Amino acid sequence: MDKKLEELQNRLKEAHLGGGVKRIERQHAQKKLTARERVMYLLDEGSFEEMGALVTHRTTDFGMEDQQFYGDGVITGYGTIHNRLVYVYAQDFTVFGGSLSETHAEKICKVMDLAVRVGAPVIGLNDSGGARIQEGVRSLGGYADIFYRNVQASGVVPQLSAIMGPCAGGAVYSPAMTDFILMVEETSYMFVTGPNVVKTVTNETVSSEELGGATTHAVKSGVAHRTASNDVVCLEDLRTLLSYLPQNNREKAPDLPYELDTEWREELGGIVPENPNKPYDMHEVIGGIIDSDSFFEIHKDYAENIITGFARLAGKSIGIVANQPMFLAGVLDSNSSRKAARFTRFCDSFNIPLLILVDVPGFLPGTDQEWSGIIMHGAKLLYALSEATVPRITVITRKAYGGAYDVMNSKHIGADLNYAWPGAEIAVMGAKGASEIIFRKEIKEAADPERELAEKEAAYAAKFANPYRAAKRGFIDEVIVPNETRRKLIKGFASLQNKEVAQPRRKHGNIPL
Ligand code: COA
Repeated sequence: MDKKLEELQNRLKEAHLGGGVKRIERQHAQKKLTARERVMYLLDEGSFEEMGALVTHRTTDFGMEDQQFYGDGVITGYGTIHNRLVYVYAQDFTVFGGSLSETHAEKICKVMDLAVRVGAPVIGLNDSGGARIQEGVRSLGGYADIFYRNVQASGVVPQLSAIMGPCAGGAVYSPAMTDFILMVEETSYMFVTGPNVVKTVTNETVSSEELGGATTHAVKSGVAHRTASNDVVCLEDLRTLLSYLPQNNREKAPDLPYELDTEWREELGGIVPENPNKPYDMHEVIGGIIDSDSFFEIHKDYAENIITGFARLAGKSIGIVANQPMFLAGVLDSNSSRKAARFTRFCDSFNIPLLILVDVPGFLPGTDQEWSGIIMHGAKLLYALSEATVPRITVITRKAYGGAYDVMNSKHIGADLNYAWPGAEIAVMGAKGASEIIFRKEIKEAADPERELAEKEAAYAAKFANPYRAAKRGFIDEVIVPNETRRKLIKGFASLQNKEVAQPRRKHGNIPL
């Protein structure tokens, strides 16, 4: 018996060494943790239960039968984060560069299937040289098996991806179909084709980092939702992110113990400047509403004219979408619309109530926007909010103009509670533009056209640049004192917690993609 136990222990010991000490040292020299270290850091201490530690590949071509490593380049299993069950896979770069073989893919599929069956999140830690070159099409089939499962699991259990090394070619499409992608700065990259192919095909010279590094994807493409300065920060971010999410689409996110702090926030009254054309930082408004330090921003550096992120209000998880007057005056454009739409759909899939903070002068004009399809991208946000059945509350802090008023969670598209601050301006357009159109003739014929315009503008502003017309029609439920916003929202969301919406029968809607 002892011999048999010894054999087991020896095999497991070998499995724990992955591709061996030398390759582990190389991984560390590149400022990367090993796959096993990452899993241990990610999960609650002592909670990891490994599955498939003794799996090996089945390839015999190119002398592969003599190169066997337990685990076959991926560590899979389950454990807990904040005492809640999660399934995890971590690609082990020390074994064939973490490349994906048929058996490697089978291991990933196994944990994905279990996660969906029991209703728990799946976390993938990616660090891989791509398809196992010695296996050819079997490896490609393995990717497709994973892609298919990503789609089946979408909207059923949260799927989180961390890119902690290479992720190239077809491999990118699994993370791309998960809910969130976190990337580690300087040690990770993602691209469909690498710099060499780019050079051959388009004659562009570009480095891996520039083409598909963490900053590129966080700022330019929006592929990455967050970046982290190193592996440890990235793993901590994954843990924090999960704390805002439910286990699956049938549950609600867990409440944190909430100690009553002040529900009146004096600072909120002084944030919006007197001059309606002066910017202010919407983060300050968010900070004045939510539980202290609870904001976890998503897509912080991408399409900064809209803010998206998770927060807690009286200990409960909420999703926030907010125009940001600091960037492009908070207009909606193609990228900000897509960013907010995707975030909205995530929250709606997973029962996370939505708070929409509005200060929007309209959609961004110009050929660039029209030719980039602002019509379709703006429609995404309109569609996503209209179809969302989670509790939805709007606060208009200042401007809500034109079609953007409708889009930003107006009453008309199904918002549950709509508040406005007393300085809110809710109208078809700003007073100047409106006066120039409707009083064109009078202004042209006036002895002093400039004065005439100013007068007309002032008259229009007095009539429409306020929240009371909308309040009279019931489009706004209440005009509230800014200091009172937090209290109103805590009570409002509490009143909506049992919200149910009957859905029309259909296979799925056809969101403008
Ligand atoms: N299939 C099989 N083995 C692979 C592999 C793959 N796709 N990618 C890397 N490896 C192996 C290497 O042979 C090497 O093995 P060794 O430890 O026995 O020497 C090990 O993984 C590490 O690779 P190496 O090239 O030394 O690492 P690097 O950090 O210098 O470069 C990559 C990393 C990903 C840039 C490089 O390995 C690469 O270009 N891989 C191929 C990418 C690719 O074309 N994939 C297939 C299509 S998706």
